[in-house]
Amino acid sequence: MTAPVPHVDEGLVARLRADLAAADFTVTGVLEVLGPLASAALGREQPLPARRVAGASTSPAATLIRLFTLGDPVDAADVERALPTLRLRGAVELGLVTEEGDGVVARFDVRPYASDERHWWVASDLAEVATGSPVREDHVLGIGGASTTLAQWTIRRPVHRALDLGTGCGVQALHLGPHVDDIVVTDLSERALAFARFNAALNECEWDVRSGSMLEPVAGQRFDLVVSNPPFVITPRSGEVPLFEYRDGGAAGDAVVAGLVRSVGEHLEPGGVAQFLGNWEVSQGSTWTERVGSWLDGAGVDAWVVQREVQDPAEYAETWSRDGGHHAGTADFDAMYAAWLDDFASRDVESIGFGVITLHRPSTERETFVDLMDERGPVPPAMGETVRVGLEARVWLAEHSDDDVLDEAWRATPDVTEERHTLPGASDPSVIVARQGSGLGRVIQLTTVTAAYLSVADGELTPRQAVGAIAGILDLDPAETEREVLAFVRDAAKDGLLVRP
Ligand SMILES: C[S@@+](CC[C@H](N)C(=O)[O-])C[C@H]1O[C@@H](n2cnc3c(N)ncnc32)[C@H](O)[C@@H]1O
Repeated sequence: MTAPVPHVDEGLVARLRADLAAADFTVTGVLEVLGPLASAALGREQPLPARRVAGASTSPAATLIRLFTLGDPVDAADVERALPTLRLRGAVELGLVTEEGDGVVARFDVRPYASDERHWWVASDLAEVATGSPVREDHVLGIGGASTTLAQWTIRRPVHRALDLGTGCGVQALHLGPHVDDIVVTDLSERALAFARFNAALNECEWDVRSGSMLEPVAGQRFDLVVSNPPFVITPRSGEVPLFEYRDGGAAGDAVVAGLVRSVGEHLEPGGVAQFLGNWEVSQGSTWTERVGSWLDGAGVDAWVVQREVQDPAEYAETWSRDGGHHAGTADFDAMYAAWLDDFASRDVESIGFGVITLHRPSTERETFVDLMDERGPVPPAMGETVRVGLEARVWLAEHSDDDVLDEAWRATPDVTEERHTLPGASDPSVIVARQGSGLGRVIQLTTVTAAYLSVADGELTPRQAVGAIAGILDLDPAETEREVLAFVRDAAKDGLLVRP
């Protein structure tokens, strides 16, 4: 049986929007009602403190939290007070709630969401924490950790046309609104598209909503930006594991992400960028860079992939068996866990990587670059600017010769510090590193030569000029010194430890 979806009635949606705003049902308003303790507990999927706090308040925001976030039955009179212009009848007409006896029960989750001074409301299916039972295979996901990771890593420069592939409830498209003129959203799930249409109306957005698998709905079309938190979860296809639409793209292993990486290039305008999250499998005897690198052969795009996490097959099986509302120790959980282990064993998979993929279609005829980095350390929440600057630096480096690099007066950025580690009693350091204080937090090991160059990289001296002096002082071969400095400059410059004046 098809599960219900919210209906779009522009007039009623406008009343809902007005009521949610009047109730201060915003991220800060909800935090004010719940307080830090209950909010944090809810973030850990523990609703009890929030039930106690919201249940003790009669404010409209507290009613809306009980109804739409916690999934609790609420008195009809309280709903009338919390939605004074939409009224209970309007909420029923929109399909958001049903009346059960004297009470009212939400059919969906509706919650405030904010980022960079922008405020939205997002409707999705109620989470397991609200329903207390495992979710259905056609569940439409709300905003999760992966959604915010992709949103935080997306380059936010103004562009004309963007695609949100696998839009779900439309969260990435909401983020695209402030910097994109035309937004196309796609999904294979008709239910997801119904939520996307509802959320577009609720937030006064206009999206071109298209149904279909992966890139099929945009055949022959090009974009300046493609973002996708795709259904990347590697899922056994043996029947024991539910094929949740929100996380399963309908292919074995990591083929969904591989296919996207291979084919998105033809949908990018020259200079266009695609950003995805993905999982990749690493089989015995191979490496993650070989795996992801093989997807990029002939893809016609520059690639910069940052691996952020690695799990072994058991860790992966535990994570995704739990997802959807199943608990360790139950027969269902054990059957799924075993199915995952069997699936990975059938392909000799030893580890599974997760990361952020940024692809770029060059604007000029040149060889594409591939940069696959393993950077699993903590990063600041807002990474979009780091990715923009890093991509621009990589493109510049790809389009300039070694002579050009040697003749730029590079400057070390102020967040770069040098650390010298010296064994007790030794006069010379055994390890010297340059540490980046922001962005990816790169740590680059230095040699005596590259440490000497970094100390004079002040925006006035070029590497070519510095190399002569360094080779002279240290009595080294100038050509070898130049090669060493050049390799360091290319590595440090791509992530912004060195910048052009
Ligand atoms: C992980 S959710 C991402 C939702 C949302 N964009 C976000 O960032 O949270 C993946 C989405 O891909 C959709 N999907 C699954 N298989 C698909 C396919 N073959 N083609 C297009 N979309 C698909 C799912 O319905 C779901 O909405």
